Amino acid sequence: MRKPIIAGNWKLNKTVGESVSFTEELKTSICTMDENSLPEVVIAPVFTALVSVSEILSCDCIKLAAQNCYWEASGAFTGEVSVDILKDLGCSYIIIGHSERRQYFSETDEMINKKAKAILAADIIPIICCGETLEQREEGLTDSHIASQIKAALEGISKEDIARSVIAYEPIWAIGTGKTCDSIEANRVIKMIRNVVEEVSGKASADAIRILYGGSVKPSTIEEQMTQSDIDGALVGGASLKVSDFAGIIEGCIKAQTVCEA
Ligand code: PGA
Repeated sequence: MRKPIIAGNWKLNKTVGESVSFTEELKTSICTMDENSLPEVVIAPVFTALVSVSEILSCDCIKLAAQNCYWEASGAFTGEVSVDILKDLGCSYIIIGHSERRQYFSETDEMINKKAKAILAADIIPIICCGETLEQREEGLTDSHIASQIKAALEGISKEDIARSVIAYEPIWAIGTGKTCDSIEANRVIKMIRNVVEEVSGKASADAIRILYGGSVKPSTIEEQMTQSDIDGALVGGASLKVSDFAGIIEGCIKAQTVCEA
């Protein structure tokens, strides 16, 4: 059984103070939920809020993620933050290869592979994002594009490390648009990603790796998404910025699990 993950990617939002009050409120809200059926809840604030948020995450029920990292450990790399520094702050996940980083900051598959290796070497979990543009989808290139992103990201990584990694399938046309990918189609692409993982790393890694869906996930969409066979959770942008929405998504995930187990 793969434990579901609900991860909130705050992107460039919230001051330190806002991040801290959000986290306090989220903790209170999660306390009322059934501990045994909680998914792994992950929040990814901006770099500058990581210390303060980490200090108040006394409970194990919320984990901390960074939105990016650099692959070198230290040196003359102005403006960058290393994996070890993020680990020291309490991050247990790091999001890499988000389409916004690929699009606005020219990140390549090769850079994402270097980041994934550095993260895994530090015993942290990478959340590796992939996804197609609308044009690629319309031209029938979705599967080949995503397969090549995944193969490049996982190049040279051991089976054990691949098994504990996380992938997020995020169709670019669904991010921040309110237009969610149909859950049957999202599940089909995620199954295809699992087959690619099996091809490069074997069945045990493919069975273990958690693959999330991202792109306009809301409290009203999560239940249907989580009842699909291969969707192991969600990477949430806009709806992770309000406690009531994010808590609603966590609750929907719990509900869907109960339905699946029944
Ligand atoms: P969205 O963003 O939920 O606002 O569509 C998702 C993401 O970019 O991870």
